[in-house]
Amino acid sequence: MGSGSAPDIRLDGLAKSFTDNEVLRSVSLNIPAGQSTVLIGPSASGKSVLLKCLVGLMQVDSGSMRYGDLELSGMSTDEWSDFQGRIGMLFQQNALFDSLRIWENIAFRLINHEGVSRSEARDRAVKRMASVGLGEEMADLYPVELSGGMQKRVGVARAMVGNPELLILDDPTAGLDPILTNTILSLIERETSGKGTTVLVVTGDMKAARSRFDNVAMLFDGEIKWSGKRDDVPEADNLYLDQMINSRATGPIKMRLAARG
Ligand SMILES: Nc1ncnc2c1ncn2[C@@H]1O[C@H](COP(=O)(O)OP(=O)(O)O)[C@@H](O)[C@H]1O
Ligand SMILES: [Mg+2]
Repeated sequence: MGSGSAPDIRLDGLAKSFTDNEVLRSVSLNIPAGQSTVLIGPSASGKSVLLKCLVGLMQVDSGSMRYGDLELSGMSTDEWSDFQGRIGMLFQQNALFDSLRIWENIAFRLINHEGVSRSEARDRAVKRMASVGLGEEMADLYPVELSGGMQKRVGVARAMVGNPELLILDDPTAGLDPILTNTILSLIERETSGKGTTVLVVTGDMKAARSRFDNVAMLFDGEIKWSGKRDDVPEADNLYLDQMINSRATGPIKMRLAARG
């Protein structure tokens, strides 16, 4: 305790439905502490829902989510607030605060959870901005004044500021060009590997999924169909994983096209 390094995450039998849409049926997965894990799966398979359940933005219907000794699914509001101070998260839609300047968005955790002064927080935010390729001249702009790709980078910088023990990134490189994609993925790796940080990333970039993270987990049909070390992926002998990670048009995952009448 107190070292700031993260414990393992153990998900067991998680279920989450929206009326008659059973999104997560029984999700069980171990996410090892201090390592990076990428979650892949077709669109609408529930990747974002799973991340939102994990950080307490959505409530699961049943199942268990353990963060070390902490049972996340039954926490009080105070416990959630404490837990959320330990994690950094990027949402798929960035979810920046429209009324705050770029630097204030990035420095939000520092000011509101760590009691850092505004001037120090601004300095640290500007350093973070540089690391994702955003110049200081953007610090005082508002999110609406930035392109989608720039907003995404602000979201990554905001999630990583203060070096949280658990970093959860929903599609951190969506909409970025290949050079920026590599820059951002390298930054995440450099700032987290060997530092005890647990990283959980969702991506649709299968090249990144095959090469960038320690572990891979594949979500489909409400379950984790495969999980394991990246090095074991090529030999995995799992048709779902094989189709997804190699972006094959044919296999057990059928595209849900509109009814053909
Ligand atoms: N707040 C919500 N209310 C109702 N349905 C939702 C909600 N959020 C997500 N869903 C549904 O859950 C399914 C999984 O969505 P999502 O987790 O966003 O998929 P993805 O794997 O692409 O991230 C989709 O069918 C989506 O329509
Ligand atoms: Mg999503």
